Amino acid sequence: MILVTGGAGYIGSHTVVELLNEGKDVIVIDNFSNSKKQTLDSIKKITNKDFKFYEIDYLDREKLEKVFKENQIDSVINFAGFKAVGESVIKPLDYYINNISGALTLLDVMKKYNVKKFVFSSSATVYGEPEKIPITEDCKIGGTTNPYGTTKLYIEQILKDLYKSDNTWDIVILRYFNPVGSHESGLIGEEPNGIPNNLMPYIVRVASRQLKELSIFGNDYDTKDGTGVRDYIHVVDLAKGHIKALQKLEKDQGLFIYNLGTGNGYSVLDMVKTFEKVTGKKVPYKIAPRREGDIATCYSDPTKAKKELNWEATKTLEDMCKDAWNYIEKNGKK
Ligand code: UD1
Repeated sequence: MILVTGGAGYIGSHTVVELLNEGKDVIVIDNFSNSKKQTLDSIKKITNKDFKFYEIDYLDREKLEKVFKENQIDSVINFAGFKAVGESVIKPLDYYINNISGALTLLDVMKKYNVKKFVFSSSATVYGEPEKIPITEDCKIGGTTNPYGTTKLYIEQILKDLYKSDNTWDIVILRYFNPVGSHESGLIGEEPNGIPNNLMPYIVRVASRQLKELSIFGNDYDTKDGTGVRDYIHVVDLAKGHIKALQKLEKDQGLFIYNLGTGNGYSVLDMVKTFEKVTGKKVPYKIAPRREGDIATCYSDPTKAKKELNWEATKTLEDMCKDAWNYIEKNGKK
């Protein structure tokens, strides 16, 4: 059985769908701090399969132990955690407590129950100002610009120390680039609370007239059109990367680190134009000052994941825009 923490969240729910489609036995835990109960029903509807669910906080050691006692868990994928960059600057302790103490509690319980296969959701944010582009996994890490990013960096270090102390652990660290889009059914998707900080959720709200216009944060970067360049990856491609990571842990032992990106860099203006073309909706925008902590260009070299996991992203920027919009349309937010 595979335990998925944060399985009702954005990336977690898409991964649970892929796991169930692969015929895996899945247990989800979530405390719905940034997700909805309804997502669990949507997952069942998409897959026509059932799974076990516990509404618990992964910081609650007692309840977490109960899950391990009651089930024969083989591996754990950890999606639970806070993820809003701006909020993490305002509430650093909340972020350090939830993300780091949560991961520590989970790992310690895993150790007690002798479950030692672990997949961790990290982020390209650990590269800070990237040493080179495209970014390979051996680029230096550190220099994160906010507590959210630092929690990812620290948990990676904790995992490396843990593995060093006991190499019977098998660990995959996945460094996500910029996940966007939704499952093509339109039943699950991204739903940030309040005004979104990330580009795609903001664009869909402008296109659906919930927000007036997009602010493009800077058009004077050293990029092809002056706006920031990122490696957007369809969340379903990303979810499939987790299946490959689990397969890796079933056959090879060690601690492995992979970038999950497409290897393509697209600018903010590329994204706006593609979104308008695919959906036929207008995305009014204005040029605003640069956002603090942003870098000009960030995209992956995904070669290692292709070679070692036999995984690569297949969906295009058009697919990402189409599916992000489809979710909004299906959920009555046009
Ligand atoms: C951000 C986080 C990163 C996190 C990732 C999750 C920061 C500094 N980094 O990455 O740690 O892992 O989200 O997906 O927040 N943009 C606009 N207008 C907007 C929003 C964004 O022009 O209203 C631009 C940004 O300047 C950037 C690009 O769009 O060039 C992508 O921004 P965003 O979606 O926030 O992602 P990142 O900043 O790359």
